[in-house]
Amino acid sequence: MGEALAELDVLRSLAEVAHKKGYTRPRFTESRRLLIREGRHPVVEETVTFVPNDLFMDERTHLALVTGPNMAGKSVFLRQVALIALLAQMGSFVPAKEAELPLFDKIFTRVGASDAVAEGISTFMAEMQEAAGILSGATENSLVILDELGRGTSTHDGMALAWAIAKHLAQKVRCKTLFATHYRELAELAEELPGVINLHAAAREWKGEVVFLYRILPGVAEKSYGIQVAKLARLPEEVLAEAKRKLSELEKKSMAKPKAELLPLFEPPEHPILEELRKIEPEKLTPLEALELLFRLRKELG
Ligand SMILES: Nc1ncnc2c1ncn2[C@@H]1O[C@H](COP(=O)(O)OP(=O)(O)O)[C@@H](O)[C@H]1O
Ligand SMILES: [Mg+2]
Repeated sequence: MGEALAELDVLRSLAEVAHKKGYTRPRFTESRRLLIREGRHPVVEETVTFVPNDLFMDERTHLALVTGPNMAGKSVFLRQVALIALLAQMGSFVPAKEAELPLFDKIFTRVGASDAVAEGISTFMAEMQEAAGILSGATENSLVILDELGRGTSTHDGMALAWAIAKHLAQKVRCKTLFATHYRELAELAEELPGVINLHAAAREWKGEVVFLYRILPGVAEKSYGIQVAKLARLPEEVLAEAKRKLSELEKKSMAKPKAELLPLFEPPEHPILEELRKIEPEKLTPLEALELLFRLRKELG
């Protein structure tokens, strides 16, 4: 009796929220198409003026890489897709104008920095253990949500691991994966592999400040706006100025490096004989001395 009432309560609540919030009935498809039109996050939309977003991945699209600055809306987008899939499969209407989904056998998520410091596991270790679990558990019918994987370690390590994990999922597992990252370098995966698309959370600069549009658009994010975001967080001016100075120094360094390395290729070191020729003052030489010098230089050249 109690169980029946509980079930009724759940269904009634789902019906109420579907009615009040304008949810739609999702469609399930046997082709592995995933289409969400004007999808929303059911919880975040309660607290802000929400900007709905679309997602379309056809049968042959396995991986969507979502780049964009911090605070631009990547995590919310990923979670809303997972929640729509979950709601749909539990028999609920979903927060979207239209939704067509395959039946997923599992939904995997790797979001946030859920470190288990208490158990002596570092954030990075926790991340990699979860990633290992996903790689071994996911099938081509799974949905995988990876949010900022590889953040817990140095830039290069993290990026390399994120790259390899994303590639494995897209190429070998072929599940539907949404991968949010602030590493714009990962977007190059789309050129290397079929079935990978790039999306980005759009932001614009306006009077030196960053403005988030919360629109998920095709293509790769242009800039990371890290310092502008830090400014929004009210970091002291002094610290921001120092960060800007350091940033331009780092950018200069990374631009100067390849040139410096190429230099010897184009400007071979000078031959010592040139140096000697430069020292000669012909007007002070007798014809005989000039002739002797010529013989000597010729001999030195071999
Ligand atoms: N679609 C959206 N419409 C309105 N506000 C949004 C939307 N997506 C995100 N936001 C706002 O932006 C904040 C940061 O979003 P989040 O997804 O955490 O950014 P990111 O993961 O790119 O750093 C959220 O807490 C929310 O307030
Ligand atoms: Mg995020």
